Amino acid sequence: PAAGWTVDTDVVVVGSGIAGLSTALRYTRSTPQGRVVLVTKDTISNGSTRWAQGGIAAAVAPSDALTHMVDTMAAGAGMCDAEAVRTLVNEGPDALRWLLDLGTAFDRGDDGALALTREGGHHAARIAHAGGDATGAEIERALTAAVRAEPRIEVIEHAFVPDLLCGPNPEHAMRGEPAERPHAVCGATVHVMGEGRRDGVGAVRARAVVLATGGMGQVFGATTNPAVSTGDGLALALRAGAGVRDLEFVQFHPTVLWLGSEARGQQPLISEAVRGEGAFLVDSSGRRFMLGEHELADLAPRDVVAKAVARAMEATGSSHVYLDARHFGSDTWRGRFPTILASCLEHGIDPVHDLVPVAPAAHYASGGVQVDLNGRTSLRGLYAVGEVARTGVHGANRLASNSLLEGVVFADRIARTIAEEPPTRTWPAEFDAGGLVDPSIVPELRAIMSRHVGVLRDGAGLAAAAERLAELAGSGARSVEAGVPAWEATNMLTVAAVLTRAATARTETRGAHWRADHPGSTQGRREHVTVELRRGRPS
Ligand code: SIN
Repeated sequence: PAAGWTVDTDVVVVGSGIAGLSTALRYTRSTPQGRVVLVTKDTISNGSTRWAQGGIAAAVAPSDALTHMVDTMAAGAGMCDAEAVRTLVNEGPDALRWLLDLGTAFDRGDDGALALTREGGHHAARIAHAGGDATGAEIERALTAAVRAEPRIEVIEHAFVPDLLCGPNPEHAMRGEPAERPHAVCGATVHVMGEGRRDGVGAVRARAVVLATGGMGQVFGATTNPAVSTGDGLALALRAGAGVRDLEFVQFHPTVLWLGSEARGQQPLISEAVRGEGAFLVDSSGRRFMLGEHELADLAPRDVVAKAVARAMEATGSSHVYLDARHFGSDTWRGRFPTILASCLEHGIDPVHDLVPVAPAAHYASGGVQVDLNGRTSLRGLYAVGEVARTGVHGANRLASNSLLEGVVFADRIARTIAEEPPTRTWPAEFDAGGLVDPSIVPELRAIMSRHVGVLRDGAGLAAAAERLAELAGSGARSVEAGVPAWEATNMLTVAAVLTRAATARTETRGAHWRADHPGSTQGRREHVTVELRRGRPS
C-alpha cells in the first residue's frame, strides 16, 4: 500500500522494551537536536521487559568483573565472543548507574546498599532486583516516564512495521556501482492501528533503523514471552537481507508454572531467583534430581537444569516436576516474591504449603540478528539491540539476568555510533507487502515447533518440521487479508523456518541446543550457524 503520511527523523526505533527505550533516550541525550520516532506494536509498556522477574546482573564490585565474565562464558558453552562479553561486563556497572539515575527503584538492604541475589550459573551475588520479583516492571516504568518526558522522541503506539525501507547503499551508488546487496536501510513503513496523531499506513524515513523488537517465544506452544513476541524484528532483518546467527540456541526456562499439557501461549514464570534464595527441584517421587548433576546443583546454568528437568520428566513419565520452597515461609514469599506468589495463588497453588508444579517453556533467543560491538548489522543503516540482536554475549545459552544488562549497554553504544556517523542520503524502494501467510496456520506452526524444535531435537523431527513449514508457506498465500494477524503469522513462519534450518545445521549438543541424535559437543568451538533468506527461503 502507498504511504498516507511520511515523516523524516534521525532514528526509528522499533520496540519499546528496555533496549528500545534506552536507545531512544541515549540518542536524544547524546545529540542536541537528535529526533527519534519510536514505534511499538502494543502500548509502550507491553513488551517482554515488564515480565522480567529475577533482575539485572552487573559486576558492581570491581573484583567481580572477571568472575562475571567467566560465568557468562561458561553458561555460553564455548560460543560467546570474548570481546562482547568483556564489553558487557565492563560497561555493566555504568549501565546500572544510568538506570538508578533515571529513578529506577532497585531493592536495598537494611544498610541502604543495593540488595544483590544469585541465579543459575552465577558464582557471586550480583543481580540487582526491584519490587522483590518485579524488576522488569520497575525498569520499564522508569524508562517509559523518561521517554514520555522527552519531546524529541515521538512514540507511535499500536503500530506495526510490516517492512523496512531499503535503498542502494549510498557509498556504492556514489561509486557508480550497481544497486544490489548490500543495500542500505533508510526507514520503515508503519501501519498505525490505534488512535492518535497518525493513522493508517505511513513511512518514517531515517538515517538509522534500530530493531529492538525482543524475542520470538510465540513460535512455540508454551513460552514465558508475551503475545507480542512473534519474531517481527528477526523476520524484518531477514527479509531486508541481514544475516541471523546462533538462532538454534533457544533457551528454555526450566521452571515455568505448569498449568496442564494443553496450556498454550504465555505461561507464568517462576524466577530462577527463587532457587537463588534456596528453593530446590524434586521429581514426582520426591527425589532432588539436581544433586550430582552439576557443582551448582539447582543453580546450575539454565540449559543444564532444563535438560535435567526434561530427563526427570521422562524417567517418571510425568509432564512436570516440582519446585519446593515451602521452607521460605509466608513472610519471605510475600516480601521477596510477591508477583510469583500472586500468580501461584491465582492458579490455586499456595507455595507456602504446596510444591509448585513446573516444566520448561521457551524463554529467550540467545541468537538473533548478527551485529558488531556497536549494534551494526550487515546492512548499512540497520542496527539491532536486545533480544533480537546477536552480539555474541550469550553464546549457546544466556546467563540469567544478562539480558536486561545487554539491552542497556548496547543501546548506549548504538546511540553513540549513530550520532557519530555522518548523515547520508538514501533512496527508499517501493514497499511490497506480498507473500502473506494465513493466520489460521499458527496453531499448527506452534505444535510443530514445540514437538520437533523444542528442548529435545533430532534430525528426523527437524526434517519433518522443515517439510511441513515449507508446505504451510506455500498454502493459499494469495487470498490473505493484510493486517496484524497475517503479518505476525508471516513473521512467525519465517522465523520458525530459519530456526529449524539452524537447528538442523548444528549436528551436536551444545548449550540450549540438544540433539538426541548427536549427544556430544563435537563441532568447532567458533563454528556459528548463520542463515540468510534467499528468495524467501532460508539458505
Ligand atoms: C528469571 O527470573 O528466572 C529469568 C531471568 C532471566 O531470564 O534472565
